[in-house]
Order: sequence, then C-alpha cells, then structure tokens
Amino acid sequence: MSKRLEGIEESATFRVADLANKLKRAGKDVISFSLGEPDFDTPLHIRESAKKALDEGKTHYTPSAGILELRESIANKFKENGLEVTPNEIIVTPGAKQTIFEAIQAVLNEGDEAILFEPAWVSYGPCIKLAGAKPVGAPINVENFKPEGFEEFVTKKTKMIIVNSPCNPTGAVFDRSNLKMITDIAMDHDLLVLSDEIYEKILYTSEHVSIGQFDGMQDRTITINGFSKTYAMTGWRLGYATAPKEIIDDMLKLQQHSTSCATSFAQYGGIAALEGPQECVTGMVNEFKARRDLIVEGLVDLGIKCKKPDGTFYVFANVSQFGNGEDVAERLLRDAYVAVTPGIAFGPSGEDYIRISYAISQAHISEGLNRMKKVV
Ligand SMILES: Cc1ncc(COP(=O)(O)O)c(C=O)c1O
Repeated sequence: MSKRLEGIEESATFRVADLANKLKRAGKDVISFSLGEPDFDTPLHIRESAKKALDEGKTHYTPSAGILELRESIANKFKENGLEVTPNEIIVTPGAKQTIFEAIQAVLNEGDEAILFEPAWVSYGPCIKLAGAKPVGAPINVENFKPEGFEEFVTKKTKMIIVNSPCNPTGAVFDRSNLKMITDIAMDHDLLVLSDEIYEKILYTSEHVSIGQFDGMQDRTITINGFSKTYAMTGWRLGYATAPKEIIDDMLKLQQHSTSCATSFAQYGGIAALEGPQECVTGMVNEFKARRDLIVEGLVDLGIKCKKPDGTFYVFANVSQFGNGEDVAERLLRDAYVAVTPGIAFGPSGEDYIRISYAISQAHISEGLNRMKKVV
C-alpha cells in the first residue's frame, strides 16, 4: 500500500453520510444533517441544456481545460468578482474538490507549509498532505470569526494561505477588513492564496468579496468556485478556477493525466447555469435563510450555543454542556437516528462542536430538532 495515504483519514462527512444511508437501507427513519448537499432539484433550464447537449451528440471528450464557451461564460462571471481573466487562465474540472486537489498539487512541494483557518473544511488538509506538504491550522476567533493573529503561524516554509469565505463549517464570512488583513500578510511574506468561494452565493446578510480583487493579489491568488452549491448540482461534478497561467497550465497537466476533462454535457448545463436566469438561486437562498432561522432558534431553545451564520447552509454548534462533539454525534445517531458531523473533523478547535448541514426541508429540520431534544 502507498505510504502517501497512510496519514490520510477518510472524509468524515462522507463517513457520516454513508452510515446514515446504511441505517436508512436497514429501514431506519434517519434525519441526516450530514452532507453539504442542497436538497433542491437542479433548475429545469440547466437540466434542459444538458439534455439538449446529450441529444446533439455532445458526448465526447472535451478540451481538458473545458469547452471554450463555458470558459468564456466563467471569465464573464469572474468580472462580477472584480477579476479580469481570459479563458486561458481558467480550468473547468469535475467538481471544485478536484480543482482544489489539482491547485494544491500544482504549487506545493515536499516540506512546504500551508495555513488553514481552523475550523476548516475536511479536504484541504488531506490534499496538502498528499502534496507532501504540511497543513498548519491557525485557530480562528470563534466569537468574531476574525483571522486575527495568524501571522504567528507563518514560517519560512509557508507557501500558501487557504481562505474559505463563506466558510464550511462555520458559515462565517470574511468582510473586506478581514481579507485586507490576509492580503497584507500574503504580500509581506510573498505567499499564494487559495480562495475557495464555492459558497459565494449562499449568503444572507453581507456581500461577497473575492480576495483576488485586492491590489496586487490576482497574481498570487487561485480563485475556486463551482456549480454544486449555488445551482444544486452536486452530482454533476462541475467546478472551476482561475489562477496565474503557469499554475493553470500545471493543473491542466494533472487533469490531462487523471480525469481528462469534466463531463461534456454537464459543461453545457454549466453555461445555462451561469448565463440563464438567476431567480432560481434567489429562491433557494431565501429558503436556506428560513431554514437557518429555524435551526438556530431551535438549537438555542435546546440550550445549545451557536451563532447565526451569515452564509452557507451549516451551523457549527457548541455542544460542550452535553459532551464533546464526537460523543454527542454518536448519541444522536444511535438514540435518535439524527446524523450530524463531529466538529473535530474540521480540526482540534472543533472538539466541542457538531456541524449541522441544514440543506434539508423545514419539516425534516423540525423533526430533527424534536429528536435532538429527547437526546440532549
Ligand atoms: C468548502 C468546500 N469547498 C469545496 C467543496 C467541493 O465542492 P464540489 O462539489 O464542487 O466538489 C465543498 C463541498 O462540500 C466545500 O464545502
């Protein structure tokens, strides 16, 4: 077996989701707050566009970087983010996860360090380790979600900072001042920034700001996005990135030798998603907001401390008065068939927390809360 995979854990979110599915198959009525997956159908016009592509025979390999029409749409979309890029500086991949994997493999060397604001999404650390580099968790202030004091984690080996705003698992959003703080440190220490903006549109109160738009940052930023969350397209596997051309070119080599390209007809769906009406997104975000309010109020009623997140569809709840996050998650699943992800999966600072994904119906959220009440 490969030594490279020895220190890599399986994905905690998939593990919990698999467990929940197993219980469901055994006839148990499980409420799953585990995977970050919108329960909505992909909007009709996007599905129609992919169906049309299938019927027109667009079922072959595409250029590895993605079809030009989609990369043009993406270049146009990046203008919204204040990024002026050409289709040659864009890569389309089978999911943003693949984009992140390729970007990290393209820039990190053995012995390099990459800083993550912790709690951090489960896959950054493993991607960094697979590059032979070291993930360095910089705990975030959980009261105000400011990335204060992280400069102390910068060493001579630091090569990259990973920014994920809106953030999975906390739902926190970095405002301009937070991003400026990160920008200054990236410039002072000549660091790259990987900005994972996949939850850009799942935002309730604040505006989304791309760190790449700050002066001098575009040359050192890899901006990642995708279709899974915004357009309820998780199963389509479609993500994308822009970065300085030399980084994109190396990501492309990885893609050519691994997945070849993103699925052809899915890419046509991607064009419809970006260029079509955006009311579907507003509708889904409004519903997520109502769900957020429902879950946060319900948790607070149960005596569980949690902040009302500004974005994403996750709540990171401190359950320390009932046990650590792993114990509580286990009891919830065993005694109430409620699946949540233990906070420790997102780094040591998440030990007292559970992550709840509220991308499920309000009826299921209410039922989940009732069951939680019985357990806690
Ligand atoms: C922070 C973050 N980045 C990236 C991804 C990957 O998204 P995709 O479905 O496009 O691979 C996820 C999915 O859960 C995520 O939460």
